[in-house]
Amino acid sequence: MNTVLITGCSSGYGLETARHFHAQGWTVIATMRTPRTDLLPESIRILPLDVTSAQSIAAAIEAAGPIDVLVNNAGIGVVGAFEATSMSRVRKVFETNTFGVMAMTQAVIPQMRERRSGVIVNVTSSVTLASMPLAAAYTASKQAIEGFTGSLAHELAAFGVRAKLVEPGYAPTTRFAANTDVPVMDLIPEAYLDFARPIFAGFANPPLTTKESDVAAAIWLAVNDGSDRLHYPAGEDAVALAGLA
Ligand SMILES: NC(=O)c1ccc[n+]([C@@H]2O[C@H](COP(=O)([O-])OP(=O)(O)OC[C@H]3O[C@@H](n4cnc5c(N)ncnc54)[C@H](OP(=O)(O)O)[C@@H]3O)[C@@H](O)[C@H]2O)c1
Repeated sequence: MNTVLITGCSSGYGLETARHFHAQGWTVIATMRTPRTDLLPESIRILPLDVTSAQSIAAAIEAAGPIDVLVNNAGIGVVGAFEATSMSRVRKVFETNTFGVMAMTQAVIPQMRERRSGVIVNVTSSVTLASMPLAAAYTASKQAIEGFTGSLAHELAAFGVRAKLVEPGYAPTTRFAANTDVPVMDLIPEAYLDFARPIFAGFANPPLTTKESDVAAAIWLAVNDGSDRLHYPAGEDAVALAGLA
């Protein structure tokens, strides 16, 4: 196995994972909604990919050629009171975090099944390890992928293909918060202010966090671990929440 395709490589966990696999000598296909050639070494192929577009997925898979590993990393967040989160926003989050992952997975299964080898790594979140307030829609989008991957792992194992979950904790250093296009306070109605204030104060000073390199290392481990282990928490906070610290 030595070719990996990673979604959402323009920043954060995806960018670091592309660098990590490249440094280990793998052929890396880094995908981005808006391709940028200035972020990664020249020998890494960059392909355009928006995981919410069937056409974009088909074009990227066609251009990529055979791949051994798919890392579904692209994702968007939404933080706020669920009451104030419009259903169009909820659907937008699911389009990327849930249906995007499913569509990418469906696109690579045939070639992996035929070769009887391959790994699909789905990046969820530590919100699936312990419930967090003011993140109901985001948590739902990621929990769906937890259940999806657990079930899928059984049917793909019959063909020698593995499905894995990497569950990162909170990284203040990625573009995740900046990429959330609704300001948090727009989703906190006045009635929720007293409840939300201490929670946001806690978010601002987390005792433990996750680094991009923790996630790249966990994805590397998940890909190269031949066992049937499903869950790989990544980062000190996630490892503690999983009870593995
Ligand atoms: N940071 C955290 O605290 C945290 C914690 C737990 C889990 N996670 C998860 O980790 C993953 C990576 O997040 P991150 O922290 O590295 O955030 P990030 O820096 O915002 O990176 C997310 C990437 O996803 C891409 N993306 C968004 N929508 C896309 C779409 N429709 N099609 C293709 N790419 C798309 C973004 O590309 P553009 O540049 O085109 O927007 C960006 O490259 C996400 O799945 C996130 O849910 C993050």
